[in-house]
Amino acid sequence: MNSSNDFDTIEEARARLGKRLVILAHHYMSDAVARHADYTGDSLELSRRIPDLDAEYIIFCGVFFMAETAAILAKPGQKVFIPEMNSRCVMSDMAPDWLVKATLDHLAEGGLSVTPLTYVNSSAAVKALVGARGGSVCTSANAKTMLTWALEQGPHTLFLPDVRLGLNAADWIALPKEQRHILDVRDHGKAVLLDKAKKAQLLLWPGQCVIHSRFKPETIRKARQESPGCLVVVHPECHPNTVALADACGSTSLIIKYVAEAPEGSVIYIGTEYNLVNRLAQKYQGVKMVRALKHSTCSNMEKVTEPNLARLITTLDSAPTVQVDEALKDPARLALTRMLQVCAK
Ligand code: 13P
Ligand code: SF4
Repeated sequence: MNSSNDFDTIEEARARLGKRLVILAHHYMSDAVARHADYTGDSLELSRRIPDLDAEYIIFCGVFFMAETAAILAKPGQKVFIPEMNSRCVMSDMAPDWLVKATLDHLAEGGLSVTPLTYVNSSAAVKALVGARGGSVCTSANAKTMLTWALEQGPHTLFLPDVRLGLNAADWIALPKEQRHILDVRDHGKAVLLDKAKKAQLLLWPGQCVIHSRFKPETIRKARQESPGCLVVVHPECHPNTVALADACGSTSLIIKYVAEAPEGSVIYIGTEYNLVNRLAQKYQGVKMVRALKHSTCSNMEKVTEPNLARLITTLDSAPTVQVDEALKDPARLALTRMLQVCAK
């Protein structure tokens, strides 16, 4: 099928299904996919939409944990699909549920009372574990608020899986450095140093996003040398040393807003996934100069394509849906609902 056929196939199906179908797309989707979406957004915005959707079919164009989050928050009877089941977030896979459980158990056995806070980039099983232990979820857009909330729940918070987002959020709330401890989770969580963990309010899981690890402080220094007066905005999955040199840092939606509000004629360097940067560069062509700090793409996000969206949309009655184990749904929903409630205030 060529791309104009795929485009027509998708749009014909959308017209035929009307309100029975909703397509959601994360900002990192390619233009060819994003142009078919009813809603685009960052992780928080898309999660917030799910409970209000009445469509029978929800197609989530993003990585698997996002579609799984939609399946947890969807109403009974709603069917959630993803065009490519194998589009996994590598960072979320750095915190497998069995290892998170073993580590939390080890901390509890060592006498630590821990409130877990998981970045939304995590599996349903991890969200369920966190929900069952009094914890919650955060996104890049609300990490500061949710970390503050978690620290108020008890003496220790375990932030997972993204050590960078955790450290950046700790900087935003001015949590002293000596109150932070990055866990060694080898040996089924037994390598954790309990005496060090006991002294820290914030325990951090050692996961990270390889796509955002590519934006180094030198990349920003080089950009500023090449374009004196330029603006730099980065995603908080970047290393804190990179964030420290940027003019602004925030979720994909914040980055979009930052570019929209920058004065005409600005040169703006962006440190996040390339599809989003490229879309902004095209949108503001001739008005503002939008550049990638480095060309960095998320190969898993790119597994969702217009052809596989076209294939899915024509087989909705037989295609596999995104399934979440029934036993995980309630505790995972609890963790997500806590976040939605804390952030609705
Ligand atoms: P946002 O929530 O900022 O859209 O980020 C999600 C993500 O996976 C970034 O890598
Ligand atoms: Fe996961 Fe990084 Fe891809 Fe975002 S960019 S989905 S954190 S691997």
